[in-house]
Amino acid sequence: EHEDLAATPPMGWNSWNTFGCNITEQLIRETADAIVTSGMRDAGYRYVNIDDCWAEPERNAEGELESHHERFPSGIRALADYVHDKGLKLGIYTSAGTRTCANTMPGALGHEEVDARTFAEWGVDYLKYDNCNNQGIPATERYAAMGEALRATGRPIVYSVCEWGENAPWEWAPDVGAHLWRTTDDIKPTWDTGNADGYPMGVVNIIDANGKLADYAGPGDWNDPDMLEVGVHDVEGYPGLTDTEAVAHFSMWSIMAAPLIAGNDVRHMPENIQRILTNGEVIAVNQDALGRQGAPVRDDGDHEVWVKELADGSRAVALFNRGDEAATISTTAEEIGARPAPRYAVRDLWAHTWTVTDGEISAEVPSHGVTLLRVRPKR
Ligand code: GLA
Repeated sequence: EHEDLAATPPMGWNSWNTFGCNITEQLIRETADAIVTSGMRDAGYRYVNIDDCWAEPERNAEGELESHHERFPSGIRALADYVHDKGLKLGIYTSAGTRTCANTMPGALGHEEVDARTFAEWGVDYLKYDNCNNQGIPATERYAAMGEALRATGRPIVYSVCEWGENAPWEWAPDVGAHLWRTTDDIKPTWDTGNADGYPMGVVNIIDANGKLADYAGPGDWNDPDMLEVGVHDVEGYPGLTDTEAVAHFSMWSIMAAPLIAGNDVRHMPENIQRILTNGEVIAVNQDALGRQGAPVRDDGDHEVWVKELADGSRAVALFNRGDEAATISTTAEEIGARPAPRYAVRDLWAHTWTVTDGEISAEVPSHGVTLLRVRPKR
C-alpha cells in the first residue's frame, strides 16, 4: 500500500516557486478552482500543496501548530474539505528542524508525532519535509522519525523528503517510508546558471544531477528534481524560461519520471503554458505504469538521446539539444532498444504527428529544445 499511494510520480501544484511566503487560504482555494477549470485535474494533477509560511510563528499552548491567523483564518481542515470536494488532495510543508527554511514557523524536529497527528486530523494527504535548522542530527534519524509518525497516524500521506540530495537520500529514503526525495538544490526559473557547484540551479544543471539516478526510481519511489518552472517568471530576477525551454523542461521531467508539481500561477495562465502542462501524450510518458526513469543512451556534448522504456513495450525518446544552435539529432531503433522490426511508427508527442521509419530516427531540434517521441514497431 506504500507503493499504491505513489505508484506513478505524484502530480500537483505547489505555492513556493511563484508565491514564496505570500500565501493565503484564498490563493489556495482559487488555485484549486483553476486546477479544475483549466483541465489540469483531468490531466492528472491532484495535489494542491501549501509550502512554507502557512503557520503561526509559534506553537499554541498545547504544543500544536496553528495555521496563520490572518492569512489562513478558516484553518487547514476547512481548506482540506474545500480541496477534497473538488476531487483534489491537500499537501502541506514543514522542516525536519527547529524552524522551517523561511524561518517563519516552527519545524517538526522533536515534535514529529504531534505534528503528524495534526496533519492527519486536518485531512492532509501529502507532506513535504524540508531540511533547514536541523541541528546537525543525522538525516536518516530525522526523516525516519517523521516516516514513523506518519505511518502511526493510519492516514495515507505521501511523504516527500526534501533534503536536497545532501546525504544520498536515494539510498535510504525508501526505507523511511518516503515516496519521493529531492535530488538537488532549489530549482530556479532559468535554463542554465552556469554555476556548476550547486545552488542556485537551472533546468540543465538539475537534469545532469538527477539523470544519474535512474536506477533508484520505480513505483512508490521517485527521484525528485524539484518543482516545475513552466510558466514561472520574474522570480528573484531570474529570466524565466522561453516557450521552447519550457517544453524541454516538461519533456525531460516526463522522461525522468519526475513528480510533476506545477509552480506557476494557474489562475492566470496563458494558453501556451496551459497547453504544455496538460499535454496528455507527454504526461502519459511520465505516468507510465512500468515506472522506469529514462536515461541517456548517447551524449554527444550539446546533443543527447534519452530513452524511457514504457509498459506497452514502446520507447519514449527525447532528442535533447542543450546547445545555442539548432541541430539535427539522430538515433536508431536499435540504439533506443526497440524490438527488431521492419518498420516503426514514430509519434511526435508535441507536434501530434505520425511518421514511419525503417529504423532511422531523426529530428531538427531547436536550441535549448527537446523533441519528444514515442516509438513502437509497426504492424
Ligand atoms: C527550501 C526548499 C524549497 C522551499 C523552501 C521554503 O529551500 O528546498 O523547495 O520549500 O525551502 O522555505
